Amino acid sequence: MTNDRKLLVLYGSQTGTAQDVAETLARDGRRCHFNTRVMDMDSYKLSEMIHEKVIVFVVSTTGQGDPPDNMKLFWRFILRKNLPTDSLSAVKFAVLGLGDSSYQKFNFIGKKLHRRLLQLGGIALQDVGLADDQHEMGPDTVIDPWSTSLWNVLMSFYPLPPDLKIIDKNVKPSPRYTVKSVKSDGTPVDRQTAVTTSEPPSETQPFYARLLLNDRVTSPDHWQDVRLLKFDISGANIRYNPGDVVMIPPENMKDTVNKFLELLELDPEQTCDLCENESGFELPSTLPRPFTLRHLVQNYLDINSIPRRSFFEFLAYFTDSDLEKEKLMEFCTADGLVLVDFPHATANLPLEYLFDLIPGMKPRAYSIASSQKVHCDELHILMAVVKYKTKLYEPRRGVCTTWLASLSPLQGTYNVPLWVKKGTVRFPSDPETPVIMVGPGTGVAPFRSYIADRVKDENGGNVLFFGCRNRAKDYFFQSEWQEYEKANLLQVYPAFSRDQAKKIYVQDKMLEQSALIWDLINNKRGWFMLAGNSKRMPKDVRAIFRKILKQEGGLSDAEAEKYVLNLDKTRQYQAETWS
Ligand code: 2AM
Repeated sequence: MTNDRKLLVLYGSQTGTAQDVAETLARDGRRCHFNTRVMDMDSYKLSEMIHEKVIVFVVSTTGQGDPPDNMKLFWRFILRKNLPTDSLSAVKFAVLGLGDSSYQKFNFIGKKLHRRLLQLGGIALQDVGLADDQHEMGPDTVIDPWSTSLWNVLMSFYPLPPDLKIIDKNVKPSPRYTVKSVKSDGTPVDRQTAVTTSEPPSETQPFYARLLLNDRVTSPDHWQDVRLLKFDISGANIRYNPGDVVMIPPENMKDTVNKFLELLELDPEQTCDLCENESGFELPSTLPRPFTLRHLVQNYLDINSIPRRSFFEFLAYFTDSDLEKEKLMEFCTADGLVLVDFPHATANLPLEYLFDLIPGMKPRAYSIASSQKVHCDELHILMAVVKYKTKLYEPRRGVCTTWLASLSPLQGTYNVPLWVKKGTVRFPSDPETPVIMVGPGTGVAPFRSYIADRVKDENGGNVLFFGCRNRAKDYFFQSEWQEYEKANLLQVYPAFSRDQAKKIYVQDKMLEQSALIWDLINNKRGWFMLAGNSKRMPKDVRAIFRKILKQEGGLSDAEAEKYVLNLDKTRQYQAETWS
């Protein structure tokens, strides 16, 4: 392999999808005899960039057009105005963006990165790829042809010498780490060391918070189990503001863990350590070392995650059954398959390949529902428990909500690891600014934090549109809102969708208050904040918002659109949505 065939795959990934795509590209690169490295952008030494030959970027766009956490430093660097415009003139690049078209700024980071690299003199191997989570056939519809075309272009730039061939997909790649058994000397393993530094808790050093409350806040006959959880964060060096989120790395449920360990015939108490090998993968920072296999499966491996294509490709290397192999290779998007279905592959699976097969557990983010001014040493979240059905495909939040909901504050022995992060919503810093908040369902969480904060300082100008199914079943924080209303510090307009024959939604209530909304937004420079489920609600609410501008302000269609786009820019219109 000549030094010319040097390939770097960099990813910016929030939930792990971009990482998985990047790792697949890197494996393909090695098969094509590229000397390949793959890493997250913030682990990469930026000063080396000008010496690279080919860089493939896989980047997702989060929240309101923001870069994922593990490319924040890179992003700040690459956008620096004083970078010379020819600094990357020796570098060939390609950008694959992963995004969600239900958000306003679809694939914003991918597009902007592509443009910026061109500005810096980089040579684009092909056009930016724009994968969409909302696509009915999934993001692979874009990723696959984009990757195929990339390899075609790269192989024409760097043809293989006659004595080399592309390595067949049937040849097993080496595992990313080597795992070795270590003798336990009796000292307890598995827990990260407690935070002793003055640094705030983080992913590698979470704070273990006591659970104070885990109450169902929907009536027993309601379809959905929504919980208010309260954590004790006294003694933690945590400061949070309204709009911030708390990160919680979940545990897999004990019975699933036991089943998994049994299936792979692993001894839960075996103590192991990891070593690097030439795969180009950095050792994980959140796995304590040494660790027991129970800890690995319970806390580190996301054994409930939706199996990605790489999972089945890897499994196929280990089966000695032709039937299984065929099934595995055919499998790409069909659902309903689990490890249990592949006894031959699992029986032959070496422990170290678990890291290639199963992605690491990703912490989940929850909007903080409390105010540090009011709730002091407590941190609250409001979460809907995602129910398990028998199907394999479960929303990722299912693991965490099910686990959290199963914890009892009475046990007092289990502490939940957590840390706090800035959220993507920003509330106005001027206490005089009126704020219109639209938060149906658990979308109300960040607004409970903000309203409590403002009420504590006796600031009014708070208008809340809350939506739920029934006044008697899922009207969260009703008594708090009433109290604030009595003090003239809040106006709340609830929309109950199922208390009458015709559905009433938050946007219907907004329309009823169109004069108020126009006055607050246009005359008082108020802010409009929306949080909740990302399905249809954000688009519907935005449409009604435009309607109000037309109706009350006499704007044309085009003027109303321009008006909202302007509010997006100044952050006077913000949406935080999740699926
Ligand atoms: P529904 O379930 O009765 O349709 C919180 O989930 C509330 O949001 C529920 O009352 C739900 O009503 C409502 N909701 C569902 N789709 C919506 C949409 N497109 N716009 C606004 N609210 C919606």
